[in-house]
Amino acid sequence: MKPGIAWIIGGGSGIGAAVTKQLAALGWTVAISGRREDKLAAVAAASPNIRPYPLDVTDGAAVDATAAKIAVDLGGIDLFIFGAAAWEPMKVGDYSFEKFKTIVDTNYLGLIRLANPVIAQMRNQGSGHFAVIASVAGYFGLPRSAAYSSTKAGLINLLETMRTELAPSNIKVRMIAPGFVKSELTDKNDFPMPFLMETEDAATRIVEGLTTSDRFEIAFPRRMVWLMKTIRFLPYPVFFRLMKRLLPKK
Ligand SMILES: NC(=O)c1ccc[n+]([C@@H]2O[C@H](COP(=O)([O-])OP(=O)(O)OC[C@H]3O[C@@H](n4cnc5c(N)ncnc54)[C@H](OP(=O)(O)O)[C@@H]3O)[C@@H](O)[C@H]2O)c1
Repeated sequence: MKPGIAWIIGGGSGIGAAVTKQLAALGWTVAISGRREDKLAAVAAASPNIRPYPLDVTDGAAVDATAAKIAVDLGGIDLFIFGAAAWEPMKVGDYSFEKFKTIVDTNYLGLIRLANPVIAQMRNQGSGHFAVIASVAGYFGLPRSAAYSSTKAGLINLLETMRTELAPSNIKVRMIAPGFVKSELTDKNDFPMPFLMETEDAATRIVEGLTTSDRFEIAFPRRMVWLMKTIRFLPYPVFFRLMKRLLPKK
């Protein structure tokens, strides 16, 4: 992929910020969105190629207005990356409606709000890459992650459908599945995080995967991906015996 115009949701922090800086260094013009204007401004200060567009993905009218503004300001969107997410470790058996509402509204419905204007723009242009940061946590239902894990599973399923349906419009749908990466999101975790990666390292793999191939899935680190994929295909009696071990002792 040649450098063009990118729009990154969640570009003000963590993986999104690191991907933004790497794309800008490669010559991309990068629009970044998120709710915290100070975070966006700090990332934008790294390069004149980075433009902040504050946005809350739970606000449908603001999503439409921002997509239209970016099209006017920058002329189009060659690469869209959705990386907004809410995550909260949940107590075992905690199905708080309010927590689910926030997590589903951000992680899943946030993408749906953006998909319509972004895909319309890409259809007009005749091409585009539509990427979403899902997670290996979406490969199967993880204890203590009821809301987050199920939104990521929903995203993976949705993206499979979109990849097939949007191929005739020359829109390449890409699914990014990181393992554990150091960020604000994981700083609050109080459990072991195997194969934890640095943010920069994760961003390098994402940028490489997006710009040097058209493949659907960009998943890393390899050991974590194989572990999770193997667990996903275990027969259920074995799977649930293993999951039981992930429950807290008390
Ligand atoms: N870190 C990991 O181990 C890991 C593993 C797998 C997948 N992921 C995924 O990678 C993506 C980036 O996460 P991260 O680890 O880099 O953590 P992060 O720094 O917390 O990134 C999440 C981003 O989402 C934005 N966001 C949250 N709610 C939003 C809303 N309502 N509207 C607009 N933006 C919103 C946040 O910005 P504001 O708060 O300013 O809005 C923030 O920039 C997420 O999709 C996450 O699920 C992370």
